[in-house]
Amino acid sequence: MARKKIIAGNWKMNMTPSQAVELINTLKPLVANDEVDVLLCVPAIDIIPAMEAAKGSNIMIGAENMYFEEKGAFTGEISPAMLDDAGVKYVIIGHSERREYFAETDETVNKKVLKAFEHGITPIICCGETLTQREQGVTIDFIRQQIKIAFLNVTAAQAATAVIAYEPIWAIGTGKVATTEQAQEVCKAIRECIAEIYDDATAAAIRIQYGGSVSASSAPELFAQADIDGGLVGGASLKADFGQIVNYK
Ligand code: G3P
Repeated sequence: MARKKIIAGNWKMNMTPSQAVELINTLKPLVANDEVDVLLCVPAIDIIPAMEAAKGSNIMIGAENMYFEEKGAFTGEISPAMLDDAGVKYVIIGHSERREYFAETDETVNKKVLKAFEHGITPIICCGETLTQREQGVTIDFIRQQIKIAFLNVTAAQAATAVIAYEPIWAIGTGKVATTEQAQEVCKAIRECIAEIYDDATAAAIRIQYGGSVSASSAPELFAQADIDGGLVGGASLKADFGQIVNYK
């Protein structure tokens, strides 16, 4: 069965609550495409006003991160129960910026993935190599390791519903998008890794996004690749361009 594309925006630390409402009202008519899943992952403070603004549209609202404990003395963190209670159905986990600036590790990614599934929240599990790793030719080995740890103790049924976002770190926010061949090669390798961990059916079901300077011009060729099931879009999701990416066909 064909996998439904999922095109998600990652707003990162952008948009106040009032700006979020304004942008969603602008985007609603531009992204009205039922052939793809449209998701905006927004800062925690924006989640509830964004959900209100998105009501009646095809836009789903997701989170950019969550902690792996149920509750307690974790100042500043957001719990899975809080996201669940707010109606959040997707959460980005393990973004390279969280790994770089906030000590996220493959191990904490795995804890968060397991906890997200416990609360019925679909994780968008980020992986990707540095420019040095690509130049050294260790990209696929590195990403296979990230995937194996992220999916520890995740069942096949859970994995089939997950989303993986391949985001080469050297392409994030740089304007340097990976070539179609590079992106397809890694996404294919990720799918093969999932088949090794679970089985062919799980590998065929899981959705794999590409992220890293996705634009209206690069989206059509990227999303047409056999193993690329959409995109995780940063900068371009903060403006009307996101509508052209959603309507890439
Ligand atoms: O999570 C998506 C993000 O890392 C990509 O950012 O601005 O390169 O599309 P950007």
